[in-house]
Amino acid sequence: MDRESLIYVDRNGTDCLKWDGAKSRFGEGGLLPLWVADMDFQAPACVREAVASWAAHGAYGYYQTPDRYYKAFLRWEEARHGYAAEKEWLRITPGVVPALYWLVQALTAPGDGVTVLKPVYYPFFGAIQDSGRKLLSCDLVNENGRYTMDFDALDAHFASTGSKLLIFSSPHNPVGRVWRRQELEELCRVCEKHGVTILSDEIHQDLIVGSNPHIPTATVHKGPTVTLTSASKTFNLAGLQNAFVVIPDEDIRRKYDAFTDAACCGGGPSVGYVAAAAAYTGGAPWLESLLERVDENYQALCAEFNDRLPEAVISPLEGTYLVWIDLRRCLDPENTKFIVQEVCGLAVDYGDWFGGDAFKGFIRLNLATSLDNVMLATARLLAALTD
Ligand SMILES: Cc1ncc(COP(=O)(O)O)c(C=O)c1O
Repeated sequence: MDRESLIYVDRNGTDCLKWDGAKSRFGEGGLLPLWVADMDFQAPACVREAVASWAAHGAYGYYQTPDRYYKAFLRWEEARHGYAAEKEWLRITPGVVPALYWLVQALTAPGDGVTVLKPVYYPFFGAIQDSGRKLLSCDLVNENGRYTMDFDALDAHFASTGSKLLIFSSPHNPVGRVWRRQELEELCRVCEKHGVTILSDEIHQDLIVGSNPHIPTATVHKGPTVTLTSASKTFNLAGLQNAFVVIPDEDIRRKYDAFTDAACCGGGPSVGYVAAAAAYTGGAPWLESLLERVDENYQALCAEFNDRLPEAVISPLEGTYLVWIDLRRCLDPENTKFIVQEVCGLAVDYGDWFGGDAFKGFIRLNLATSLDNVMLATARLLAALTD
Protein backbone atom coordinates (compact mmCIF):
# COMPACT_ATOMS: atom_id res chain seq x y z
CA MET A 1 0.00 0.00 0.00
CA ASP A 2 1.20 3.51 -0.86
CA ARG A 3 2.06 5.83 1.98
CA GLU A 4 1.41 9.54 2.32
CA SER A 5 3.66 11.23 4.87
CA LEU A 6 2.08 12.64 7.98
CA ILE A 7 2.58 16.35 8.64
CA TYR A 8 2.75 17.27 12.32
CA VAL A 9 1.41 20.76 13.03
CA ASP A 10 1.76 23.06 15.99
CA ARG A 11 -1.88 23.64 16.91
CA ASN A 12 -1.14 26.16 19.65
CA GLY A 13 -2.87 29.50 19.17
CA THR A 14 -5.51 28.18 16.75
CA ASP A 15 -8.31 27.86 19.33
CA CYS A 16 -7.72 24.14 19.14
CA LEU A 17 -9.60 22.39 21.96
CA LYS A 18 -6.80 19.94 22.70
CA TRP A 19 -4.04 22.57 23.06
CA ASP A 20 -5.70 25.95 23.67
CA GLY A 21 -8.75 24.54 25.43
CA ALA A 22 -6.70 22.56 27.96
CA LYS A 23 -6.32 25.65 30.14
CA SER A 24 -10.03 25.99 30.85
CA ARG A 25 -10.58 22.21 31.03
CA PHE A 26 -7.73 21.55 33.48
CA GLY A 27 -7.47 24.95 35.17
CA GLU A 28 -3.91 25.74 34.14
CA GLY A 29 -1.96 26.55 31.01
CA GLY A 30 1.22 25.03 29.61
CA LEU A 31 0.24 21.38 30.02
CA LEU A 32 1.34 18.90 27.36
CA PRO A 33 -2.03 17.73 26.04
CA LEU A 34 -2.68 14.03 25.49
CA TRP A 35 -6.36 14.14 26.31
CA VAL A 36 -9.26 14.61 23.85
CA ALA A 37 -9.22 12.19 20.86
CA ASP A 38 -7.97 14.64 18.27
CA MET A 39 -4.73 14.44 16.29
CA ASP A 40 -1.79 16.78 15.84
CA PHE A 41 -1.50 15.94 12.14
CA GLN A 42 -2.84 17.67 9.09
CA ALA A 43 -5.62 15.81 7.32
CA PRO A 44 -4.69 13.93 4.10
CA ALA A 45 -3.65 16.08 1.12
CA CYS A 46 -6.76 15.06 -0.84
CA VAL A 47 -8.93 16.47 1.95
CA ARG A 48 -6.95 19.70 2.24
CA GLU A 49 -7.20 20.19 -1.52
CA ALA A 50 -10.94 19.51 -1.63
CA VAL A 51 -11.62 21.85 1.29
CA ALA A 52 -9.36 24.57 -0.15
CA SER A 53 -11.08 24.36 -3.52
CA TRP A 54 -14.52 24.49 -1.85
CA ALA A 55 -13.41 27.51 0.22
CA ALA A 56 -11.87 29.28 -2.79
CA HIS A 57 -15.15 29.14 -4.69
CA GLY A 58 -16.46 31.55 -2.11
CA ALA A 59 -20.20 30.90 -2.13
CA TYR A 60 -21.12 29.50 1.28
CA GLY A 61 -24.84 29.07 0.78
CA TYR A 62 -27.01 25.97 1.09
CA TYR A 63 -25.94 22.79 -0.63
CA GLN A 64 -27.50 19.42 -1.37
CA THR A 65 -25.81 16.24 -0.19
CA PRO A 66 -23.42 15.16 -2.94
CA ASP A 67 -24.03 11.72 -4.38
CA ARG A 68 -20.29 11.04 -4.48
CA TYR A 69 -20.28 11.39 -0.70
CA TYR A 70 -22.72 8.51 -0.21
CA LYS A 71 -20.92 6.42 -2.79
CA ALA A 72 -17.50 7.04 -1.22
CA PHE A 73 -18.76 5.99 2.21
CA LEU A 74 -20.59 2.89 0.99
CA ARG A 75 -17.55 1.81 -1.01
CA TRP A 76 -15.27 2.33 2.00
CA GLU A 77 -17.51 0.30 4.31
CA GLU A 78 -17.73 -2.59 1.91
CA ALA A 79 -14.10 -2.66 0.79
CA ARG A 80 -12.51 -2.03 4.17
CA HIS A 81 -14.97 -3.66 6.57
CA GLY A 82 -17.10 -6.03 4.49
CA TYR A 83 -20.26 -4.13 5.41
CA ALA A 84 -22.57 -3.87 2.39
CA ALA A 85 -24.84 -1.11 3.64
CA GLU A 86 -27.48 0.53 1.47
CA LYS A 87 -27.98 4.19 0.74
CA GLU A 88 -31.51 4.26 2.10
CA TRP A 89 -30.22 3.10 5.49
CA LEU A 90 -27.99 6.16 5.88
CA ARG A 91 -28.74 9.26 7.92
CA ILE A 92 -26.32 12.17 8.29
CA THR A 93 -25.59 14.00 11.53
CA PRO A 94 -23.07 16.61 12.70
CA GLY A 95 -21.63 14.04 15.12
CA VAL A 96 -21.90 10.59 16.57
CA VAL A 97 -22.63 11.98 20.03
CA PRO A 98 -25.65 14.10 19.00
CA ALA A 99 -27.01 11.10 17.08
CA LEU A 100 -26.66 8.94 20.21
CA TYR A 101 -28.78 11.49 22.10
CA TRP A 102 -31.41 11.42 19.34
CA LEU A 103 -31.46 7.63 19.18
CA VAL A 104 -31.81 7.23 22.94
CA GLN A 105 -34.77 9.60 22.89
CA ALA A 106 -36.32 8.08 19.77
CA LEU A 107 -36.06 4.48 20.92
CA THR A 108 -36.78 4.64 24.66
CA ALA A 109 -39.13 6.43 27.05
CA PRO A 110 -38.17 8.67 30.00
CA GLY A 111 -37.12 6.53 32.95
CA ASP A 112 -36.13 3.52 30.80
CA GLY A 113 -32.76 1.92 31.48
CA VAL A 114 -29.98 2.04 28.90
CA THR A 115 -26.89 -0.14 29.29
CA VAL A 116 -23.20 0.57 28.76
CA LEU A 117 -20.12 -1.55 29.42
CA LYS A 118 -17.84 0.45 31.72
CA PRO A 119 -15.21 1.78 31.55
CA VAL A 120 -16.44 3.55 28.45
CA TYR A 121 -16.41 6.81 26.51
CA TYR A 122 -18.16 9.16 28.96
CA PRO A 123 -20.50 11.06 26.58
CA PHE A 124 -22.50 7.81 26.50
CA PHE A 125 -23.47 8.62 30.09
CA GLY A 126 -24.63 12.08 29.02
CA ALA A 127 -26.73 10.69 26.17
CA ILE A 128 -28.56 8.52 28.70
CA GLN A 129 -28.78 10.77 31.75
CA ASP A 130 -29.34 14.11 30.00
CA SER A 131 -32.27 12.46 28.25
CA GLY A 132 -33.85 11.42 31.56
CA ARG A 133 -33.07 7.72 31.09
CA LYS A 134 -31.47 5.45 33.68
CA LEU A 135 -27.77 4.72 33.24
CA LEU A 136 -27.09 1.00 33.71
CA SER A 137 -23.75 -0.76 33.43
CA CYS A 138 -22.49 -4.27 33.10
CA ASP A 139 -18.79 -3.63 33.57
CA LEU A 140 -16.11 -5.17 31.39
CA VAL A 141 -13.84 -7.72 33.06
CA ASN A 142 -10.24 -6.62 33.51
CA GLU A 143 -7.76 -9.47 33.19
CA ASN A 144 -4.41 -7.86 33.82
CA GLY A 145 -5.18 -5.01 31.42
CA ARG A 146 -7.00 -7.02 28.78
CA TYR A 147 -10.73 -6.42 28.93
CA THR A 148 -13.48 -8.86 28.02
CA MET A 149 -17.26 -8.99 28.18
CA ASP A 150 -18.94 -11.29 30.70
CA PHE A 151 -21.87 -12.71 28.74
CA ASP A 152 -23.44 -14.55 31.68
CA ALA A 153 -23.39 -11.33 33.66
CA LEU A 154 -24.86 -9.46 30.70
CA ASP A 155 -27.60 -12.07 30.34
CA ALA A 156 -28.46 -11.67 34.02
CA HIS A 157 -28.20 -7.88 33.73
CA PHE A 158 -30.73 -7.69 30.92
CA ALA A 159 -33.04 -10.17 32.64
CA SER A 160 -33.05 -8.23 35.91
CA THR A 161 -33.13 -4.66 34.56
CA GLY A 162 -35.34 -5.00 31.49
CA SER A 163 -32.93 -2.71 29.65
CA LYS A 164 -33.79 -2.52 25.96
CA LEU A 165 -30.83 -0.55 24.62
CA LEU A 166 -27.06 -1.07 24.71
CA ILE A 167 -24.60 1.63 23.70
CA PHE A 168 -21.53 -0.28 22.59
CA SER A 169 -18.06 0.99 21.66
CA SER A 170 -16.30 -0.98 18.90
CA PRO A 171 -13.31 -0.75 18.84
CA HIS A 172 -13.57 0.08 22.50
CA ASN A 173 -12.64 3.47 23.87
CA PRO A 174 -10.81 3.58 26.28
CA VAL A 175 -9.56 -0.02 26.66
CA GLY A 176 -8.39 -0.46 23.06
CA ARG A 177 -10.12 -3.75 22.32
CA VAL A 178 -10.99 -4.82 18.79
CA TRP A 179 -13.81 -7.28 19.45
CA ARG A 180 -13.43 -10.71 17.87
CA ARG A 181 -16.18 -12.31 15.82
CA GLN A 182 -16.93 -14.84 18.54
CA GLU A 183 -17.31 -12.10 21.14
CA LEU A 184 -19.65 -10.15 18.87
CA GLU A 185 -21.68 -13.27 18.15
CA GLU A 186 -22.08 -13.93 21.88
CA LEU A 187 -23.01 -10.30 22.51
CA CYS A 188 -25.58 -10.35 19.74
CA ARG A 189 -27.02 -13.63 20.94
CA VAL A 190 -27.58 -12.23 24.44
CA CYS A 191 -29.04 -8.98 23.06
CA GLU A 192 -31.38 -10.85 20.74
CA LYS A 193 -32.55 -13.08 23.57
CA HIS A 194 -33.63 -10.02 25.55
CA GLY A 195 -34.84 -7.88 22.65
CA VAL A 196 -32.05 -5.37 23.16
CA THR A 197 -31.18 -2.96 20.35
CA ILE A 198 -27.46 -2.25 19.94
CA LEU A 199 -26.24 1.25 19.17
CA SER A 200 -22.80 0.32 17.91
CA ASP A 201 -20.49 3.33 18.02
CA GLU A 202 -17.82 2.40 15.47
CA ILE A 203 -16.18 5.79 15.09
CA HIS A 204 -12.79 4.11 15.71
CA GLN A 205 -13.43 1.42 13.05
CA ASP A 206 -10.46 2.37 10.88
CA LEU A 207 -7.97 2.80 13.70
CA ILE A 208 -6.77 -0.76 13.89
CA VAL A 209 -3.28 -1.17 15.26
CA GLY A 210 -2.81 -4.90 15.65
CA SER A 211 -3.56 -7.71 13.23
CA ASN A 212 -7.21 -8.28 14.16
CA PRO A 213 -9.70 -6.75 11.76
CA HIS A 214 -12.59 -4.61 12.88
CA ILE A 215 -15.87 -6.47 12.42
CA PRO A 216 -18.97 -4.27 12.14
CA THR A 217 -21.54 -5.46 14.67
CA ALA A 218 -24.23 -5.13 12.00
CA THR A 219 -22.53 -7.83 9.92
CA VAL A 220 -22.92 -10.26 12.83
CA HIS A 221 -26.24 -9.23 14.35
CA LYS A 222 -29.45 -10.53 12.87
CA GLY A 223 -31.46 -8.26 15.12
CA PRO A 224 -31.67 -4.51 14.98
CA THR A 225 -28.26 -2.86 15.19
CA VAL A 226 -27.65 0.80 14.49
CA THR A 227 -24.10 1.68 13.45
CA LEU A 228 -22.63 5.12 14.06
CA THR A 229 -19.39 6.12 12.42
CA SER A 230 -17.55 8.99 10.82
CA ALA A 231 -14.50 9.99 8.82
CA SER A 232 -13.78 12.48 11.60
CA LYS A 233 -11.78 10.25 13.94
CA THR A 234 -10.01 8.40 11.13
CA PHE A 235 -8.83 11.49 9.24
CA ASN A 236 -8.84 14.24 11.89
CA LEU A 237 -11.91 16.09 10.62
CA ALA A 238 -13.94 16.45 13.83
CA GLY A 239 -14.27 20.22 13.47
CA LEU A 240 -16.11 19.76 10.18
CA GLN A 241 -18.97 17.91 11.87
CA ASN A 242 -20.06 15.09 9.67
CA ALA A 243 -21.04 11.58 10.72
CA PHE A 244 -23.18 8.65 9.58
CA VAL A 245 -25.94 6.72 11.25
CA VAL A 246 -26.63 3.42 9.49
CA ILE A 247 -30.08 2.00 10.24
CA PRO A 248 -30.98 -1.19 8.35
CA ASP A 249 -34.14 -1.79 10.40
CA GLU A 250 -37.16 -0.05 8.91
CA ASP A 251 -39.00 0.40 12.17
CA ILE A 252 -35.99 2.02 13.86
CA ARG A 253 -35.50 4.25 10.81
CA ARG A 254 -39.09 5.38 11.08
CA LYS A 255 -38.69 6.22 14.78
CA TYR A 256 -35.38 8.00 14.16
CA ASP A 257 -36.87 10.02 11.30
CA ALA A 258 -39.94 10.95 13.33
CA PHE A 259 -37.72 12.21 16.15
CA THR A 260 -35.24 14.11 13.99
CA ASP A 261 -38.01 15.62 11.84
CA ALA A 262 -39.89 16.84 14.90
CA ALA A 263 -36.76 18.36 16.44
CA CYS A 264 -35.46 19.60 13.05
CA CYS A 265 -32.12 17.80 13.48
CA GLY A 266 -30.15 17.87 10.26
CA GLY A 267 -26.70 17.08 8.94
CA GLY A 268 -23.70 19.32 9.52
CA PRO A 269 -22.06 22.01 7.40
CA SER A 270 -21.58 21.45 3.68
CA VAL A 271 -17.79 21.50 3.93
CA GLY A 272 -18.01 18.38 6.10
CA TYR A 273 -19.49 16.42 3.20
CA VAL A 274 -16.73 17.66 0.90
CA ALA A 275 -14.03 16.58 3.35
CA ALA A 276 -15.55 13.18 4.13
CA ALA A 277 -16.07 12.33 0.44
CA ALA A 278 -12.45 13.21 -0.33
CA ALA A 279 -11.11 11.28 2.67
CA TYR A 280 -13.02 8.08 1.90
CA THR A 281 -11.95 8.32 -1.72
CA GLY A 282 -8.25 9.15 -1.42
CA GLY A 283 -7.26 9.02 2.25
CA ALA A 284 -6.11 5.39 2.57
CA PRO A 285 -2.36 6.03 1.97
CA TRP A 286 -2.39 8.68 4.70
CA LEU A 287 -4.18 6.31 7.06
CA GLU A 288 -1.44 3.72 6.58
CA SER A 289 1.13 6.23 7.83
CA LEU A 290 -1.04 7.26 10.72
CA LEU A 291 -1.47 3.68 11.91
CA GLU A 292 2.27 3.13 11.67
CA ARG A 293 2.91 6.28 13.73
CA VAL A 294 0.41 5.21 16.41
CA ASP A 295 1.90 1.73 16.61
CA GLU A 296 5.45 3.09 16.90
CA ASN A 297 4.37 5.52 19.59
CA TYR A 298 2.66 2.71 21.47
CA GLN A 299 5.65 0.35 21.19
CA ALA A 300 8.05 3.07 22.35
CA LEU A 301 5.90 3.92 25.35
CA CYS A 302 5.54 0.24 26.29
CA ALA A 303 9.28 -0.36 25.99
CA GLU A 304 10.06 2.49 28.42
CA PHE A 305 7.40 1.46 30.92
CA ASN A 306 8.30 -2.23 30.77
CA ASP A 307 11.90 -1.36 31.39
CA ARG A 308 11.49 1.11 34.22
CA LEU A 309 8.01 0.66 35.69
CA PRO A 310 6.67 -2.82 34.98
CA GLU A 311 4.07 -2.41 37.76
CA ALA A 312 2.11 -0.12 35.44
CA VAL A 313 -0.40 -2.18 33.48
CA ILE A 314 -0.72 -1.01 29.88
CA SER A 315 -3.72 -2.41 28.05
CA PRO A 316 -2.90 -4.07 24.71
CA LEU A 317 -3.65 -1.57 21.96
CA GLU A 318 -5.64 -3.39 19.28
CA GLY A 319 -7.59 -0.39 18.09
CA THR A 320 -8.07 3.38 18.63
CA TYR A 321 -5.08 5.68 19.20
CA LEU A 322 -5.80 5.89 22.92
CA VAL A 323 -3.76 3.91 25.42
CA TRP A 324 -5.27 2.90 28.77
CA ILE A 325 -2.81 2.62 31.63
CA ASP A 326 -3.47 1.29 35.12
CA LEU A 327 -1.19 3.10 37.56
CA ARG A 328 -2.81 1.81 40.73
CA ARG A 329 0.28 -0.17 41.73
CA CYS A 330 2.48 2.89 41.20
CA LEU A 331 0.59 5.61 43.06
CA ASP A 332 -2.24 6.32 45.45
CA PRO A 333 -5.24 6.54 43.09
CA GLU A 334 -6.44 9.62 45.00
CA ASN A 335 -3.21 11.38 43.98
CA THR A 336 -3.42 10.61 40.26
CA LYS A 337 -4.37 14.09 39.18
CA PHE A 338 -1.75 15.73 41.40
CA ILE A 339 1.04 13.56 40.01
CA VAL A 340 -0.03 13.63 36.36
CA GLN A 341 -1.01 17.28 36.16
CA GLU A 342 0.94 19.13 38.87
CA VAL A 343 4.13 17.08 38.87
CA CYS A 344 4.27 15.93 35.22
CA GLY A 345 2.52 18.88 33.55
CA LEU A 346 0.28 16.63 31.45
CA ALA A 347 -3.35 16.97 30.38
CA VAL A 348 -4.83 13.48 30.11
CA ASP A 349 -8.21 11.77 30.41
CA TYR A 350 -8.58 10.36 33.92
CA GLY A 351 -9.94 6.88 34.55
CA ASP A 352 -12.83 8.01 36.75
CA TRP A 353 -14.26 10.02 33.84
CA PHE A 354 -14.99 6.68 32.16
CA GLY A 355 -17.04 5.17 34.93
CA GLY A 356 -16.48 6.59 38.40
CA ASP A 357 -14.30 5.87 41.40
CA ALA A 358 -13.57 2.25 40.42
CA PHE A 359 -11.34 3.62 37.66
CA LYS A 360 -9.36 6.10 39.72
CA GLY A 361 -5.66 5.48 39.17
CA PHE A 362 -6.11 4.81 35.45
CA ILE A 363 -5.21 7.31 32.73
CA ARG A 364 -5.88 7.43 28.98
CA LEU A 365 -3.19 8.91 26.76
CA ASN A 366 -3.68 10.07 23.18
CA LEU A 367 -0.98 8.70 20.87
CA ALA A 368 -1.99 10.58 17.70
CA THR A 369 0.86 12.98 18.02
CA SER A 370 4.61 13.04 17.46
CA LEU A 371 6.92 10.43 18.95
CA ASP A 372 8.67 13.33 20.72
CA ASN A 373 5.50 14.29 22.56
CA VAL A 374 4.82 10.70 23.57
CA MET A 375 8.40 10.25 24.78
CA LEU A 376 8.29 13.52 26.71
CA ALA A 377 5.09 12.50 28.47
CA THR A 378 6.52 9.03 29.17
CA ALA A 379 9.75 10.45 30.58
CA ARG A 380 7.86 12.79 32.89
CA LEU A 381 5.58 10.01 34.15
CA LEU A 382 8.48 7.64 34.74
CA ALA A 383 10.50 10.30 36.55
CA ALA A 384 7.57 11.10 38.84
CA LEU A 385 6.59 7.50 39.51
CA THR A 386 10.00 5.92 39.98
CA ASP A 387 11.43 8.51 42.39
C1 LIG B 1 -16.29 6.29 20.99
C2 LIG B 1 -16.47 7.70 20.51
N1 LIG B 1 -17.65 8.08 20.02
C3 LIG B 1 -17.86 9.34 19.56
C4 LIG B 1 -16.86 10.29 19.61
C5 LIG B 1 -17.10 11.68 19.14
O1 LIG B 1 -17.96 11.70 18.07
P1 LIG B 1 -18.46 13.05 17.40
O2 LIG B 1 -17.37 14.05 17.46
O3 LIG B 1 -18.80 12.62 16.00
O4 LIG B 1 -19.68 13.47 18.16
C6 LIG B 1 -15.61 9.92 20.11
C7 LIG B 1 -14.54 10.92 20.20
O5 LIG B 1 -13.53 10.71 20.80
C8 LIG B 1 -15.42 8.60 20.57
O6 LIG B 1 -14.23 8.20 21.06
